[in-house]
Amino acid sequence: MVETYKSTSNPMMNRPVVKAELVEWMRSSQTQVTGELAEVLNFAKENNIPVIPHETVLYFQMLLSLLKPKRILEIGTAIGFSALVMAQEVPEAEIVTIDRNPEMIELAKKNLTKYDHRNQIQLKEGDAADVLQELKGPFDLVFMDSAKSKYVEFLPKSLELLSENGLILMDDVFQAGEILLPIMEVKRNQRALERGLRKLFDEVFDNPKYMTSVLPLGDGLLMIKKHKNC
Ligand SMILES: C[S@@+](CC[C@H](N)C(=O)[O-])C[C@H]1O[C@@H](n2cnc3c(N)ncnc32)[C@H](O)[C@@H]1O
Repeated sequence: MVETYKSTSNPMMNRPVVKAELVEWMRSSQTQVTGELAEVLNFAKENNIPVIPHETVLYFQMLLSLLKPKRILEIGTAIGFSALVMAQEVPEAEIVTIDRNPEMIELAKKNLTKYDHRNQIQLKEGDAADVLQELKGPFDLVFMDSAKSKYVEFLPKSLELLSENGLILMDDVFQAGEILLPIMEVKRNQRALERGLRKLFDEVFDNPKYMTSVLPLGDGLLMIKKHKNC
């Protein structure tokens, strides 16, 4: 068992925003994850490691099969599950993924050695705030699934690294609906996270520079695209 990883950042796990029966239906009635990906997923479940939920896996598979990105940047590797999902869907893509947690990095390395058969995935160790500065674009897709308070801080560099028609995806932006609460009603230890998310929404929503779409998948997936000429 993984001892030190604390799953505090995903309130959706216990409090789905979409009706629980519908979430269950989406997860049980569609194609299941099988084979090697299922091994990684089962380990995540057994050890309470948050990874993208089933409906998001299927959405990623659909989206990637249409977009066929050549280079993908992921912020938040954990044990490498979402990176492996993406690698499997786009066998010709190069994926750079960042994590700062030593325990997750060790597990991710083991999984990548075992399951990244085409050596598509490059794991960068360190805080994304630092690693992002060293990266060279362009990336056709940036997937943020790390500390939610930092999404807004990672946005400018991610936009800089993004290809002209590139897409940014950010996971868990609903925070189980807490984004709707007045900030003083949010638990004190969650306020920095909530303030970061609200700053992000203020920056990207209703801004002529960006096209956005929020999807009620998992705990909310935000999609951001640059408008042409911006
Ligand atoms: C929800 S998990 C990622 C799950 C993974 N994307 C998946 O679906 O398989 C979040 C990960 O982000 C990492 N993380 C959080 N903040 C980070 C930061 N500032 N820089 C790098 N990694 C970060 C954590 O260590 C954790 O492993």
